[in-house]
Amino acid sequence: MSQIPTYVTGVPNGTEKGLYLAVDLGGTNFRVCSIQLNGDTTFNLIQSKVAIPKELMVAKTAKELFAFLAKQIELFLKTHHEDRFAAHIRRRQTASTPEGYRDEHIFRLGFTFSFPIHQIGINRGTLMRWTKGFDIPDAVGQDVCALLQKEIDALHLPVRVAALVNDTVGTLMARSYTSPGKTGTLLGAIFGTGTNGAYVEKLSAVTKSMEGDFDKSTGEMVINTEWGSFDNNLKVLPTTPYDAQLDRDSVNPGIQMFEKRISGMFLGEILRIALTTMMKKPDVSLFADANSSHNDYRSTTTIDETSCLFTQWAVDSSILSIAEADNSVGLRALRQEIEKSLGVSAASIEDAQAVKEIAHAVAKRAARLSGAAIGAIVIHTGRLNPGASGVPGPKSAAAITEDIKNLKISEAVSATANKLADTAGLAVNEDEIVDIGVDGSLVEFYPGFEDYMRDALRILPEIGAAGERRIRIGIAKDGSGVGAALIALVAAKMEAKQDYLGDLRARLAEVGEEENESATS
Ligand code: BGC
Repeated sequence: MSQIPTYVTGVPNGTEKGLYLAVDLGGTNFRVCSIQLNGDTTFNLIQSKVAIPKELMVAKTAKELFAFLAKQIELFLKTHHEDRFAAHIRRRQTASTPEGYRDEHIFRLGFTFSFPIHQIGINRGTLMRWTKGFDIPDAVGQDVCALLQKEIDALHLPVRVAALVNDTVGTLMARSYTSPGKTGTLLGAIFGTGTNGAYVEKLSAVTKSMEGDFDKSTGEMVINTEWGSFDNNLKVLPTTPYDAQLDRDSVNPGIQMFEKRISGMFLGEILRIALTTMMKKPDVSLFADANSSHNDYRSTTTIDETSCLFTQWAVDSSILSIAEADNSVGLRALRQEIEKSLGVSAASIEDAQAVKEIAHAVAKRAARLSGAAIGAIVIHTGRLNPGASGVPGPKSAAAITEDIKNLKISEAVSATANKLADTAGLAVNEDEIVDIGVDGSLVEFYPGFEDYMRDALRILPEIGAAGERRIRIGIAKDGSGVGAALIALVAAKMEAKQDYLGDLRARLAEVGEEENESATS
């Protein structure tokens, strides 16, 4: 995996303060927000969201996309920060006011850019490859912060791109800010359009060379794993013919193989391919009745010619959540959805049951693989056994709980022991918690996604039921915006103090020269 050092060397503790801008590019939407960090673990957020036009996702030049982004920032400032924006315009027009050049009037912006980046500093990084359906070849290898700053400057906006942040890093930061626990958050993970995780690593364990400046005093470095590209050679990942077809027909075959089994961008498509494959098999007879007596609606099933089942990427992954949530006898809600979004009318109960089973299998696999990724980070960082030095420390309450459960005693006694263990397990000591922040539509909306992740954590021998109880998973809503603001704050503190008087002198000298020139011409 890429294991990218992010130049972020610590997590916040909730006392950070200030007004920051953040923008987020990484999936279907582009978001611009301003965040007031209140310094007491709370924040106020204003945000605007716009769908990224499909043609810009595959634009000819990076400029087209980045100019669009800068325009959205301008619109946002005009709408939500009119005072500050207008004051900036006034100051620009009156070059003789020292105010015009004060650095603190410039908004610091955290740029959440959720694609694999080779990061070379807190606000510098070159694009390694596009994912999630984006494909603008001329952007690859370019510094995305510089691309955005250039377009911001072209519009003369009072904005400096201060930090470049992956959404997982933002999620990690936001979770740490809003729920600072005794142990600090270990991992930020996204299970949405794409999937990825960023965690806190010991600086001494980072072997990659790092060119840019960073604060070494914390002894830590946040690493963006880019786990979406885990096992691209498919040595261990489960694979079906449907996965193979999805990959073959994608814009990036052979890449992001883990992500293609987990994230929202792909699950609807796996379902679509599985369903259409089955529709072609006469012995399966999916969405096909011999006659109306074979259909509990006493009708025959028909498939609309324009059904999204016949279009690549057209089946939205949200149908998986609807299928999972509908446990009614007649599967009414699911059948309505099959009609509305798949264009299949009068699907029989057996058809609906088949869709439910397949959707369940696709999503359950995704959730368990997600659990495996979380488990790998927990095990690798040794967070469940801090200070493990070969000398066993005192046993934790959770470990004792596990021991009780494992005792081979008569069934009646063991049932009581399990109950005791469960009760004891609920009271995991705060010091023993391993905190994880997550965000993304799948983990937020798919019913039981976390439960399946937890099943996977429990069966890992190094974690077990006792370890799983100590893992606290919390949604960090809007994590990437708040997190980007937090990193922009850290970056602003690190910036060399701006010599705005020096800037002013230089600018006045320029203006003086211009005046002399016009006087002599
Ligand atoms: C990208 C990651 C990102 C993840 C979640 C993946 O496709 O490569 O950088 O964090 O999606 O948005």
